[in-house]
Amino acid sequence: MKTVSRRDRAGIPLSLAFSRATALLALLVVSIGLVACDGSAEPNDGSSASLVVGFSQIGAESDWRRANTQSIRDEAAKRGIDLRFSDAQQKKENQIKAIRSFIAQGVDVIAFSPVVETGFEQVLEEAKRAGIPVVLSDRAVEVSDDSLYVSFIGSDFEEEGRRAAQWLVDNTEGEVRVAELQGTPGSAPALDRAAGFRAVIENHDRVEIVWSQSGNFTRTEGKQAFQAFLKSPDADSVTALYAHNDDMAIGAIQAIKEAGKDPGEDIKIVSIDAVKQAFQAMIDGDLNCTVECNPLIGPQLFDIIEKVAAGESVPKRVKVEEGVFTASEAAELIDSRQY
Ligand code: AHR
Repeated sequence: MKTVSRRDRAGIPLSLAFSRATALLALLVVSIGLVACDGSAEPNDGSSASLVVGFSQIGAESDWRRANTQSIRDEAAKRGIDLRFSDAQQKKENQIKAIRSFIAQGVDVIAFSPVVETGFEQVLEEAKRAGIPVVLSDRAVEVSDDSLYVSFIGSDFEEEGRRAAQWLVDNTEGEVRVAELQGTPGSAPALDRAAGFRAVIENHDRVEIVWSQSGNFTRTEGKQAFQAFLKSPDADSVTALYAHNDDMAIGAIQAIKEAGKDPGEDIKIVSIDAVKQAFQAMIDGDLNCTVECNPLIGPQLFDIIEKVAAGESVPKRVKVEEGVFTASEAAELIDSRQY
């Protein structure tokens, strides 16, 4: 009869196996700490929660993002889901750390909104190897293997860009010289909204983009970028502003007023998101049009997550329904806006 040696099943001496186990435990503790230390990861203490979901959010850069976070938190709480929420403060590196931490914690499903499109392939492979399904929320990633995520729910950003351009084409005459405030460089909405807008104006020679710069989707950076632009010689000939989100448009509106010009009149402004403050800006005559990008996707997101966790099939792509709003309807609609 064979005697059992002091080795584990893989033939590793027990002392070595013990130190590996200790190292793994330490890694787990450090990884959990990484999420806990960013000041925003909050394992719920609801011990009865059956489903554990790790969510890596981009940050709190805009009114849109804050509404999106609230929708996700509210829906998780409503369904009794143990949501491990991590705020990446607009840094890809923080998202990668958070996802690694979720893997170490052995969550049931990982959901995340990637700040930029590229650079997530490796960590998504790690999640796949660990058998944890990943759902993309709001923004897409660029990967060579699309089995690295099970589903992507979010807006059609290119369509939003097309709608913004179409509004401008339909509501202007003669030569239109456009300044563009782009979102975060390398992010899906910045790339797609730029592309969608250009796809429409390329059929209209009278509309031309003469300046384009990133305002990183924030009010402050939108204002700073536009303030600097308004001091340049090109600024005098600009007749329109296309901002990739309302927050940057609102920042630019402040800069235009401070420069002694009339936003909405001297410079026609179209932006994206349709947040409540954009409706107020339209009522005030400062903004002309906002294209909706709906952040309230918590219910749809968790429908998908629960199906994935239950092993049911889900669509690879779920698009969010959205509209376009102009100044003429702003007063009537502002009270109905939820974000
Ligand atoms: O990904 C959606 C975009 O991100 C929103 O348009 C913008 O406001 C946010 O920061």
